[in-house]
Amino acid sequence: MDRTEELKKMAGIHAAGYVKNGMKVGLGTGSTVKYTILELGRRIREDGLKISCVPTSISTEELSIEQGISLHELASLEGLDLVIDGADEFDENLTLIKGGGGALVREKIIAQASDKMIIVADDSKKVSKLGKFPLPVEVIIFSWKETRRKISEITNIDLSRINRRMNHETDEPMITDNGNYILDLSLEEIDEPLKLESELIQLAGVLDCGLFCGIANTVVLANPEGIEIIEKRA
Ligand code: 5RP
Repeated sequence: MDRTEELKKMAGIHAAGYVKNGMKVGLGTGSTVKYTILELGRRIREDGLKISCVPTSISTEELSIEQGISLHELASLEGLDLVIDGADEFDENLTLIKGGGGALVREKIIAQASDKMIIVADDSKKVSKLGKFPLPVEVIIFSWKETRRKISEITNIDLSRINRRMNHETDEPMITDNGNYILDLSLEEIDEPLKLESELIQLAGVLDCGLFCGIANTVVLANPEGIEIIEKRA
């Protein structure tokens, strides 16, 4: 296992410690939270942990079923105690870029339904300014080109820096779990994430974007020295 993978595993397993018997838990998507899901599966089998979970993607649903985790419809639980999820970038305000795995819409819905959002990350995800990671925006297929043109106007970036995400196995555009496209915006620097988020989501063809502002409470960050817990500033 390489160094980054070990850090992901450390963060993922540590974060599983926030989950207590009887909790309603949102399960995020990605290669870091995968370790949280594996650890929860182990505790269910070995320690008799009882939890009710909602997955944020079809891939997480499949992994959770393999692990014997009890899954529910979001509508049947009336809110969640916490969600544990990964991030592509986070800054000192715990504003996030998410959606590298294409699950940003369900991830934001589940995060907003949860009392607490815990992010699991290795040290490559911590940034002083958001934007190096291309910002994912989920758009309706019907109007994707027009939406891309509008996004170019809003953000002042050239169309060539707004890329429709491809599925590299099929060489076709990637389709999200919700049946839409993802546009990845190479912005380089995001000065006002909240303003950008609200401008993007006002466009009719945009379902949501990967900016999570004021949602995350805690980051479980793994670096070579160990685990660091970063809490949102009051
Ligand atoms: C999926 C996400 C992931 O949480 C994010 O891409 C981080 O993934 P990983 O832990 O694999 O780096 O937002 O939509």
